[in-house]
Amino acid sequence: MKAVTTHSNVLDPEKIRKDFPIFSKEIHPGVPLIYLDSAATSQKPLAVIEAMDAYYRHSNANIHRGIHALAEESTANYEASRQRIADFIGAAKSHEIIFTRNTTESINLVAHSWGRANLKSGDLIILTEMEHHSNLVPWQILTSEIDLRLEFIPVNAEGLLDLDEYKKLLTQNPRLVSFTFMSNVVGTINPAKEIIHLAHEAGALTLVDAAQAVPHFAVNVVDLDADFFAFSSHKMCGPTGLGVLFGKEALLDAMPPFLGGGDMIKRVKLRSFTTNDLPYKFEAGTPAIAEVIGLGAAVEYLDDIGMDTIAAHTKELTAYALERLEEVPGVWLFGPSIEHKAGVAAFTFEGVHPHDVSQILDRDGLAVRAGHHCAMPLHEKFDLPATTRASFYLYNEKQDVDRLIEGLYKVKEIFG
Ligand code: ALA
Repeated sequence: MKAVTTHSNVLDPEKIRKDFPIFSKEIHPGVPLIYLDSAATSQKPLAVIEAMDAYYRHSNANIHRGIHALAEESTANYEASRQRIADFIGAAKSHEIIFTRNTTESINLVAHSWGRANLKSGDLIILTEMEHHSNLVPWQILTSEIDLRLEFIPVNAEGLLDLDEYKKLLTQNPRLVSFTFMSNVVGTINPAKEIIHLAHEAGALTLVDAAQAVPHFAVNVVDLDADFFAFSSHKMCGPTGLGVLFGKEALLDAMPPFLGGGDMIKRVKLRSFTTNDLPYKFEAGTPAIAEVIGLGAAVEYLDDIGMDTIAAHTKELTAYALERLEEVPGVWLFGPSIEHKAGVAAFTFEGVHPHDVSQILDRDGLAVRAGHHCAMPLHEKFDLPATTRASFYLYNEKQDVDRLIEGLYKVKEIFG
């Protein structure tokens, strides 16, 4: 399904917002929504809503099971989405795309399946200090079982990874380097290709948490040479409840299944089973069929606009936001300068808790996120209990930033 609006390569957010039904809503009587929380979840265009609606109205049947026409139609739609998603991230083979529930489950899949089968006591996994909890806790759980060694690439005062320290860690024979492509808190875009190349030179595999990256700029897993690459549908205009794990075929092939049940088997006896081929080996049970079709529509929508156009737009908007936020007395910006980041501006406001900031901004329809954003260690490192985070996407415009700044001056007035 095509995007509702056809766009040129300069993005017109006012036009884009017409594709998103939620923006016709008044969040409080007479107050329109200014949505600055896309890093938590993006809004959904009509193209995605309609694709899912059409699936339930016209094509609903379980996939891979029925021989009847409707089951074949549903299966064809589901597999066409998988191909579209593979193309979107540059994967050479659609069976390297595994559907999960979210990025978190994709990382857990690698930890439980690849990790349990390949790691032994004392093995080193390198993570970073800027990871989301979803790329920390699965490895901590595995460490409690296997006694792994976890080390962390430090984050410097600017909010960038210290690559010299990374190189030192690489001399210690790591088995895996698992890192975020783009920080959900400070927006840092890490040099993924370089990190992966160095890891491979040291004999380690790599896992990229691309939950924030894939929505924001064009990615290519073959060019990156990523071994595993995880992201979520709901942050890129798609529905919730669906994640993706890309894995290199040879790695996925050699891994034991993660969850057991229907569809992931070829043959089952009372006491044994044989596993299905990729990608089904990792898709136990009836999957999120409508959501996969919804994500296919989201990818088509984003493609139709162009990821480079989206990246340029959010970069410009983030640069403007950083510039304007700096003007506000008492605001301290957390994270690197615009050259190293995209889409996110996290800050503290002297003397005011982020929850209060967020609550006051909400009165003017401004939706921002306040808290530790599932990255407590990064906040602790900078001695911050919490931050306020504004995040930007294709439907935001400069006026949204202006409203944010006006809102912050109101916060200042209220709290003195
Ligand atoms: N990981 C999401 C965020 O950063 C939920 O808000």
